[in-house]
Amino acid sequence: MKVITTIREMQKTIREIKLQQKSVGFVPTMGFLHDGHIRLMENARENNDVLVLSIFVNPLQFGPNEDFDAYPRDFERDSEIALSKGVDYIFYPSVEEMYPKEMSVKALVQQRTNVLCGESRPGHFDGVATVLTKLFHIISPDRVYFGLKDAQQVAVVEGLITDFNFPIELIPVDTVREEDGLAKSSRNVNLSPEERLEAPVLYESLLYAKRLVEEGERNTDLILSDMKKLIEEKSSGSIDYIEIFSFPELEPLPVIEGKIIIALAVNFKKARLIDNIIISI
Ligand code: PAJ
Repeated sequence: MKVITTIREMQKTIREIKLQQKSVGFVPTMGFLHDGHIRLMENARENNDVLVLSIFVNPLQFGPNEDFDAYPRDFERDSEIALSKGVDYIFYPSVEEMYPKEMSVKALVQQRTNVLCGESRPGHFDGVATVLTKLFHIISPDRVYFGLKDAQQVAVVEGLITDFNFPIELIPVDTVREEDGLAKSSRNVNLSPEERLEAPVLYESLLYAKRLVEEGERNTDLILSDMKKLIEEKSSGSIDYIEIFSFPELEPLPVIEGKIIIALAVNFKKARLIDNIIISI
């Protein structure tokens, strides 16, 4: 495994790989790797000749009052995990390497962004789309792997790949969870011990909603208010949003039908947790 910190060297390496006609699987991350990231790496390892992992905490996707500085980082541990999972290259650029000056052109996400996390994090998905555009150009992967834990990100990336004609296959991967149902996240370490005990109620409320829908309930407001009640009863977090939309279009549904996403975000003192469930009816 090799750690590459410059764009030039990454591009040179990729050119050599492509000359050998090898396929490249790419897993973009912000590091502090956990089992969710590992699942993406395992999928990518299985289906590609070469596996590239990027670790880059992208300042462009954090708002002014968000946790860019507090975002957990541990490169040494990450590289040990990457090595054990068969990663061939870690692309680990500095902020200066990726953004040597203010960008003259940035990506603007126009759809699938004014709801859910996009609504409460203005500019977030523009930052994600901008860094991914750079990474896709630098790494030229055949396949990219994204977790459905961040389902809105998957929807936005699907739009980015289609609209900008990246010759890349998008592989969405199911959410990996703790035993008690809490979705694995780098941000979970910022929960207090009490909050950590409460946090599984997020997934519990999603499973409850799923059951209601499967039993025939079609009243969105009723489902959402039951979920809200459950979360408020069992946690000290404050709900940012709970919504039901079509997936991946992320449009409101007058009637619940087709492929739907039930998604939520809850703010705890030092961690904002998101989770979702996607169901086909
Ligand atoms: P990050 O939060 O590090 O996540 C990297 C990838 O891991 C994303 O595709 C995310 O959906 C996936 N992931 C996180 N938790 C998961 C879980 N519990 N189960 C399955 N997959 C999970 O998402 C980002 O970084 C950034 O926005 C990035 C795409 C790297 C652009 O900066």
